[in-house]
Amino acid sequence: MTDLPNPIFCALDTPTTAGAVELGRTVAPHVGGLKLGLEFFMAAGPAGVRAVAEIGRPVFLDLKLHDIPNTVAGAIRSVVPLAPAFITLHASGGPAMMRAALDAAHETAASANLARPRLLGVTVLTSLDAEDLSAVGQDDEVARQVGRLATLARAAGLDGVVCAPGEIARLRAQMGPEFGLMVPGIRPAGAGADDQKRVMTPQQAMAAGADHLVIGRPITRAADPAEAARHIAESLRHDHP
Ligand code: C5P
Repeated sequence: MTDLPNPIFCALDTPTTAGAVELGRTVAPHVGGLKLGLEFFMAAGPAGVRAVAEIGRPVFLDLKLHDIPNTVAGAIRSVVPLAPAFITLHASGGPAMMRAALDAAHETAASANLARPRLLGVTVLTSLDAEDLSAVGQDDEVARQVGRLATLARAAGLDGVVCAPGEIARLRAQMGPEFGLMVPGIRPAGAGADDQKRVMTPQQAMAAGADHLVIGRPITRAADPAEAARHIAESLRHDHP
């Protein structure tokens, strides 16, 4: 699924449209896309997404939807006109919810003459450990639960999952070459980990089988974000000619 020449999605983790647009414009020449999360969407809404989309890079709308199938399908219908390249939803919402989301994405995109956004499943949040999974009644073996939810997502027709660096190799082996793996927790060699517990360099993640990399603070908090993004993109081109 490596169909973009540049696999980097820069996470614009800010609540303001002006901030996201400024940062987005700065890094746009050096990244494959721009990621907007719940913080941004809650504050800036669809108008904010449209403003970022106007920069001209694919937008990853990381909304992590999770509700009954009818409601998630409605949410998908509401955001498809914003033409996002990717939307996330929780695989733990179940097969019917994922299928309803996919159907809604197909139908809304077709009737608006847009490319269908790719839907990515969220498996186990990396903030949860075995004890947390057990507390909510899920399989407390994190890797097994990730594999189970990824398999469910694929069976429902989703295009891939968001996964932690440490899960790439196993999921790539388990899910095959066509299943998309979007990977946060990426840190260039020598960069601080911030609050990320298990990180990989961009090169390591791509070599392990990632399709796309979500990179936030190593770019957005750099003294020169454009140069930081350019440097990472350049390092990947060298490794993956
Ligand atoms: O700044 P940093 O590179 O850590 O940003 C990573 C981005 O990926 C943030 O938007 C964060 O919410 C998101 N993310 C993550 N870990 C996950 C899932 C998403 O860091 N497991």
